[in-house]
Amino acid sequence: MMDWTDRHCRYLHRLLSRRVLLYTEMVTAPALVRGGALHLLDHGPEEHPVALQLGGSDQKELAYAARLGAEAGYDEINLNCGCPSDRVQSGTFGAVLMKDPALVARCISAMREAVDVDVTVKCRIGVDDQDPGEVLPEFLSRIAAAGCTRVQIHARKAWLQGLSPKENRDIPPLDYDLVRRMKALFPDLHISINGGIASLDEAEALLASGLDGVMVGRAAYHQPADMLCAADRRIFGGPGPDTTPEGAVAAMLPYIEAHLAGGGRLNQVTRHMLGLFAGRPGARAWRRILSEGATRPGAGPELVEAALAQVVRAAA
Ligand SMILES: Cc1cc2nc3c(=O)[nH]c(=O)nc-3n(C[C@H](O)[C@H](O)[C@H](O)COP(=O)(O)O)c2cc1C
Repeated sequence: MMDWTDRHCRYLHRLLSRRVLLYTEMVTAPALVRGGALHLLDHGPEEHPVALQLGGSDQKELAYAARLGAEAGYDEINLNCGCPSDRVQSGTFGAVLMKDPALVARCISAMREAVDVDVTVKCRIGVDDQDPGEVLPEFLSRIAAAGCTRVQIHARKAWLQGLSPKENRDIPPLDYDLVRRMKALFPDLHISINGGIASLDEAEALLASGLDGVMVGRAAYHQPADMLCAADRRIFGGPGPDTTPEGAVAAMLPYIEAHLAGGGRLNQVTRHMLGLFAGRPGARAWRRILSEGATRPGAGPELVEAALAQVVRAAA
């Protein structure tokens, strides 16, 4: 999620679940190919399985960017056909591509030829005045024929004019039924549903209804422990015990030390940890201590330990 997630966030989430597939925020193909911004591909070996999400619509550039991503070690290359922001529309990226499935198919073919890892697509159910029931089957059949093996569908339209990106994540109504109908139409395509999923109960119910996967954005960011600690057992059928947020904090301490030793700032890591105890005793003190203290010069792991002590005290 652009401006929210980064490699520090993925490191934390991977401590909470060994099995969930993590995605990078969207990285544009022009930034990689024309801008040479290869640092955008930086990630750690602990993050796997991890997918690189690309934005773009030039097939050669996307193929090249996909190759850079695969060479950097990503397990999957994902094409963004869901982002509605103006900045992105102007470069013909994101949700506006729902209007041109033939172009998306050409991009997927080119990326498919460039890499051996899976090439996947994140999309909406349609944009503007499109009829999702008509355009989505056409879109899916084109990308599947071009070699896309898995698709993540944000189950609402994007309005390209008149709604902000934030409004486009809440205002257009969700249509889970349509996504379920797509699974019936395309039994061989791995279909994940996305949009508004806020608990593992909801995720389990959607999987039980026949969908192949569930993608969770905001809830995983704001309540990572609720969404991830039990995911390996409940979603992937692995043995317990579930991970704990306290355990994740302990495991983050050496990571934080290494980040600071490399010249980084505490807040760059702890901003992703603010929601770790959401809904649990001590959550407010945890959040307050970290958000007030982590930007101060010289702040280090002892601040995180002090915040954790408050949580432990509140729980006792
Ligand atoms: C701050 C923010 C940034 C986002 N950036 C991306 C992005 O880079 N790529 C993408 O596919 N979706 C992005 N999204 C959309 C989410 O992936 C997801 O589709 C949307 O939030 C709906 O799912 P949710 O209700 O589980 O959050 C972003 C969402 C937010 C809140």
